[in-house]
Amino acid sequence: MADTTISQHGQWSSRFVFILAATGSAVGLGNIWKFPYIVGENGGGAFVIVYLFCVIGIGIPIMMAETMLGRRGRHSPINTMEILTSEAKADPNWHYLGWMGVIAGFLILSYYSVIAGWALAYTGKAFFGSFFGESASGIATLYDNFIASPWQQIFWHTVFMTATMAIVVRGVESGLEKSARFFVPILFVLLILLVGYAMTKESYYFQGLHFLFNFDFSKLSGDSVLVAMGQAFFSLGLGMGAIMMYGAYLPKDISIAKTSMIIAGADTLVALLAGIAIFPLVFANGLTPADGPGLIFKTLPIAFGNMFGGWLVGILFFVLLFFAALTSAVSLIEPAVAWLVEAHKFDRYKACVWSGLLTWGLGVGVALSFNLWSGLKLFGHNLFGLVDYLTSNLMLPIGGFCIAVFAGWIMQQQHSESELAVSSPQFYQLWKFSVCYIAPSAVFLVFLHVVGVI
Ligand code: TRP
Repeated sequence: MADTTISQHGQWSSRFVFILAATGSAVGLGNIWKFPYIVGENGGGAFVIVYLFCVIGIGIPIMMAETMLGRRGRHSPINTMEILTSEAKADPNWHYLGWMGVIAGFLILSYYSVIAGWALAYTGKAFFGSFFGESASGIATLYDNFIASPWQQIFWHTVFMTATMAIVVRGVESGLEKSARFFVPILFVLLILLVGYAMTKESYYFQGLHFLFNFDFSKLSGDSVLVAMGQAFFSLGLGMGAIMMYGAYLPKDISIAKTSMIIAGADTLVALLAGIAIFPLVFANGLTPADGPGLIFKTLPIAFGNMFGGWLVGILFFVLLFFAALTSAVSLIEPAVAWLVEAHKFDRYKACVWSGLLTWGLGVGVALSFNLWSGLKLFGHNLFGLVDYLTSNLMLPIGGFCIAVFAGWIMQQQHSESELAVSSPQFYQLWKFSVCYIAPSAVFLVFLHVVGVI
């Protein structure tokens, strides 16, 4: 079955479109919302350097492995793993890897959608001039009032989930592809504009840069290393089968190695630009870097409210953040939808309704964890924190570990060689070494470190 050349769900129409769609999956809230606040919470520069090591040493090889598995299997991650397992005559339990991915996708999307709803709500606030002339404390109050309202949270989450499912239901070519075109270049331009604004804050600009790039390793804890690794998986969109699914729609003749490097490079650049735009505003306005998930919503509106042309830049920024989130969200749910279609013979519409409703329901719980249920703590986290920790720091790295081991140790060399089809044998050997040894042992060592064994 592995020689099927096209997936039953369709395929990307060109290499460019695949790069756009996969970059769309990678670039999202993870880069602009999450990266700055977790850098802030984990002390700055040292965290950034560990993050960069994780992207290069673990992320890129695993991205290649995951895309490759998808393209060889040509099905949803659950069935792809089943097909590849039987092709390699391996233990059938490997297909649970696909299951874990589908569950992780649900869990991530449930909170992703709530935060993406914030971007939508803030588009409205930008439009009605709510940031105009506001001080840092006025902007903070605006944010606090907004997240304290359960109805607003649920409303925007519902709008976002509906938009996501409206795209997914249209399928690969007319849904996923069309939505991915053009937004990345505009997002880059806007981020550069905001970096320009941050530069006008002179000494604070350098304070921001210093915070981001000053490698003070004494600030780094074991948990920070885990968080950096989890963030690399999250930001690149690895470890749960999203890129495996996108690989399933990838035509045979496209180079997986080159596209993986382009995607990872663009993703990292967006995250760093977001950090460079945000930290100078944090310092200039007396905020603290460790402010948590509200960080960008408390900083950037100050810029929009006070910069020349800020009204328009503010609207554009939040609209684009919404689009960035949307092209990521579709990749989180596509594996589940494709699986329902394959295994249960659902039509795409019915598969979207069921998977969408389930995610929406979980998301309502997350939305309430910012207000009505904020006192409800499990293992020291509220529901949002718990779902985030569980998925980013545990499920994605474990998924990535298994993907690397499968690609490196279980799959036959001739298969991985022919799928990757890199022209230089040394490059193939380097990749193979990474997925066999470097990536799995790095993930393993980080886990050992966190549980206190080393
Ligand atoms: N990478 C996206 C972001 O940074 C989120 C995302 C999309 C994701 N697909 C994924 C995260 C798969 C983990 C796994 O916002």
